[in-house]
Amino acid sequence: MSKTEKNLQDAFAGESQANRKYLAFAKKAEAEGFKQAAKLFRAAAASETIHAHNHLRELGVVKSTRENLMAAINGESYEFQNMYPRMIADAQAEENPGALRSFNLANAVEKIHAALYQKALDSLGRNADTEYYVCSVCGYTAEGAAPDECPVCGAKKQAFRKVE
Ligand code: FE2
Ligand code: FE2
Ligand code: FE2
Repeated sequence: MSKTEKNLQDAFAGESQANRKYLAFAKKAEAEGFKQAAKLFRAAAASETIHAHNHLRELGVVKSTRENLMAAINGESYEFQNMYPRMIADAQAEENPGALRSFNLANAVEKIHAALYQKALDSLGRNADTEYYVCSVCGYTAEGAAPDECPVCGAKKQAFRKVE
């Protein structure tokens, strides 16, 4: 890998993180009543997304949807088969209950993502018109309708957001 390819990967990671961080800062600014600061955080977040996508394009990561679905299945599978089990073990060993819960919730949901992507790959082009709902507590992703209770974290139906 060339130095520039590595730099594109690092810059993509940094810009992506800045985007999510600024959105979290915007939420906090809203909660504290600082509307203008919140708006600026959202503006910068939108801008960082453009930088991240520009870097991603130069990396050649975005391919056909069929290939992208396969890449997504691989990424999700790596997370629940390898990455999170290691992190869960470390959080247990280091007695960090907050991190342990955060890792466990994500781990449970990545399995579901892999399955949903597999299903979408298997039926690609045969347009089943289905809705998705995401739990705002744990990210559990439901197909068809929001459940009365989140099967991963137990949150109530009102915690689910429909994806447009
Ligand atoms: Fe940027
Ligand atoms: Fe995922
Ligand atoms: Fe949940």
